Amino acid sequence: MENIKSYIRDNKQRFIAELIELLKIPSVSADPTYKNDVVRTAKEVKKSLEKAGCTKVEICKTPGFPVVYGERIIADSLPTVLVYGHYDVQPADPLELWDHPPYEPKLKSTKIHPDGAIFARGACDDKGQMFMHVKALEYMVKNNELPCNIKFMIEGEEEVGSENLGWFIKRNKEKLANDVILISDTGMIANDVPSITTGLRGLSYVEVEVTGPNRDLHSGLYGGAVANPINVLTKMIASLHDENNHITIPGFYDRVEELTTAERAKMAEAPFNLEKYKEALKINDVYGEKGFTTNERNSIRPTLDVNGIWGGYIGEGAKTVIPSKAFAKISMRLVPNQDWEEITQLFKIHFESIAPKGVTVKVKPHHGGQGYVTPIDSIAYKAASKAYETTFGKTPIPQRSGGSIPIVAMFEEELKSKTVLMGFGLDSDAIHSPNEHFGVWNFLKGIETIPYFYKHFTELHEDGK
Ligand code: BES
Ligand code: MN
Ligand code: MN
Repeated sequence: MENIKSYIRDNKQRFIAELIELLKIPSVSADPTYKNDVVRTAKEVKKSLEKAGCTKVEICKTPGFPVVYGERIIADSLPTVLVYGHYDVQPADPLELWDHPPYEPKLKSTKIHPDGAIFARGACDDKGQMFMHVKALEYMVKNNELPCNIKFMIEGEEEVGSENLGWFIKRNKEKLANDVILISDTGMIANDVPSITTGLRGLSYVEVEVTGPNRDLHSGLYGGAVANPINVLTKMIASLHDENNHITIPGFYDRVEELTTAERAKMAEAPFNLEKYKEALKINDVYGEKGFTTNERNSIRPTLDVNGIWGGYIGEGAKTVIPSKAFAKISMRLVPNQDWEEITQLFKIHFESIAPKGVTVKVKPHHGGQGYVTPIDSIAYKAASKAYETTFGKTPIPQRSGGSIPIVAMFEEELKSKTVLMGFGLDSDAIHSPNEHFGVWNFLKGIETIPYFYKHFTELHEDGK
């Protein structure tokens, strides 16, 4: 690997330019307006894999957006790493909050990224991180240093729940057979505090609808005499947490695994500065479940959050009206062992049961997925750890994340493989937010670190034989 540093130095501008081309395509999977752009992105990903040295690349149809599959198989006797990533992105709105248009990538340095960061929707989540793997492959192929078989599965529906990826996996088990799954779609603590994500939360996403009278009513003529669905909905939502910010849905915590004091103490060793955290978010205090630290609240504890709420009159000026309906979108982040379908059911039963007379309530489940904890005694984790040690000069800290990649649990169920999460983004990179960006340093560090993973994984795999 002695050439890796110079290879990156010599090709840095081209790597960035290629990523920028990919970022220019608005591959928003959630919005049908962008359908052609999503499909076009799949084609660009295919080209980039071919160029990097995959010997077989296909655009695989699914009932939804296609999966890009690529491979470079050297020998049956060698281990196989399956790289997963996604080429779709979140919607960019609210557009007015972006300093530059989201699909006109801009290089700019920030306090945290003095070497510059690429600002664009998808820069970090996940085009930039997925592309690190493409460039790492390019390096390994050009320098004859790919030590094992490699497969790529890059999907276009992650941001909408990967509903068709399960369909694809079930039908392509042999094609996707592997010894480990490698994903860069998470973050790390800081550029000088490398970490490996060892857990993802599950998710249950629901939409609720509260209906009062059959039509909007004059709030003077009817006000006080009938249920106002917005008043009722907000009251119902407020009751979902108690005074300690515990969730009140019966059975919600039944399967939650409580960490031991020792495990919690270990977690607390990860560097965290509460003052800086508050300062970065311009909040005067943190908020959450009593008895848990901020890092615990956003990783090992389940949550319930309203993501959007609407109904009634929200136009200019005032309109005196009691709306007929009120709506909310609610997400619950779950921890391993909680089953998302069971939680969705518990939510539905509870939410319907707390509806007062005078309204009717509908609960519509959207998507969901199970949480995941990765082992840290596997050869894959050890290989990842060694890779970071080489390129960061520090042992990475294992850290459970609060985010979700629902397909990871399905990989284990269907393909019987474990996943390693080598994420190089930072929480401050504003994924899903306006001004999403990815540090150039992080992008290049990822490209540098990934080849070492293959090297160590293959060596450890051989040793284990
Ligand atoms: N890459 C994120 C998940 C993530 C980010 C995990 C940072 C850990 C750290 C992924 O693209 C994502 O946004 N997932 C969704 C879930 C999905 C079902 C829409 C999420 O976590 O909200
Ligand atoms: Mn992602
Ligand atoms: Mn995302």
